[in-house]
Amino acid sequence: MKIVKSISVLRKVVCSLKRRGKTIGFVPTMGFLHEGHLSLVRRAKKENDVVVVSIYINPAQFGPKEDFKNYPRDLRRDTRLLRGLCDLLFIPSVKEMVAQESRTFIEVRRLSDLLCGRTRKGHFSGVATVVAKLFNIVAPDAAYFGQKDAQQAVVLEQMAADLNFSAKMVVMPVVREKNGLAMSSRNVYLSDKEKAEAVVLFQALKSAEHMVAAGSRDTKKIIRTLYDFISRTPSARIDYIEIVDKKTLESVSTIKREALLLLAVHVGSTRLIDNTILKVK
Ligand code: PAJ
Repeated sequence: MKIVKSISVLRKVVCSLKRRGKTIGFVPTMGFLHEGHLSLVRRAKKENDVVVVSIYINPAQFGPKEDFKNYPRDLRRDTRLLRGLCDLLFIPSVKEMVAQESRTFIEVRRLSDLLCGRTRKGHFSGVATVVAKLFNIVAPDAAYFGQKDAQQAVVLEQMAADLNFSAKMVVMPVVREKNGLAMSSRNVYLSDKEKAEAVVLFQALKSAEHMVAAGSRDTKKIIRTLYDFISRTPSARIDYIEIVDKKTLESVSTIKREALLLLAVHVGSTRLIDNTILKVK
């Protein structure tokens, strides 16, 4: 695995790979890798000649009161985990990625204002802008994202289509701990007790799936049940519970064929998100 820190070197390597007809699969990350990230890398390896993974903690997607400074970092461990799975590890510096005062931002309208966008103003613009920059540097044939960040995946698919990026966008299922907790770099913030209590998100998703399997279609009723269920966990504070259309992210009142259920819940001081697709069978 080759480690590249400069944008111009990465461009040169990519150029020479393309000249030799190699396809490039790309997995953008912020590091502190876990099985969720690695599932994307493995899939990228299966489908492409060369895999590029980026590790870049993107300041533009953190709000002023968010955890940019404390975001977990362990480059040594990340490098070890990627050996044998990835061909090129791209670790650009903030200095080079934000070489001048930026005046160009990508705004994916409406989709960015809903759900997490209500409390995380500017977050999805920060995500879309950095992913567009990385696409312009890496020029991938395919890019891999996780359903764990369902809204992010929808925003980025829309951005790629709107701006005619040629990369195929692939979204992979949520990878979970044995107890159902969705893997996340931010899970390190949880104490053991909070980690155990955080399972309430997964349990809530499962109980909604059971309700739908048993015939429930009224989203208000399902959401109310989940509110009551999650509120029983003392350390949990609900940010939102919503059932929306998979593409538009607009709320739906009745589940027809399928709908996306999303949760954002603070457990202690850590904000966790999770989701599932509710399917009518
Ligand atoms: P990060 O949180 O590091 O996640 C990188 C990729 O891994 C994202 O596509 C995310 O959805 C996926 N991922 C995270 N946890 C997962 C899990 N448990 N199962 C499956 N996939 C999972 O998301 C970002 O970084 C950034 O916003 C980024 C896209 C890199 C832009 O800065």
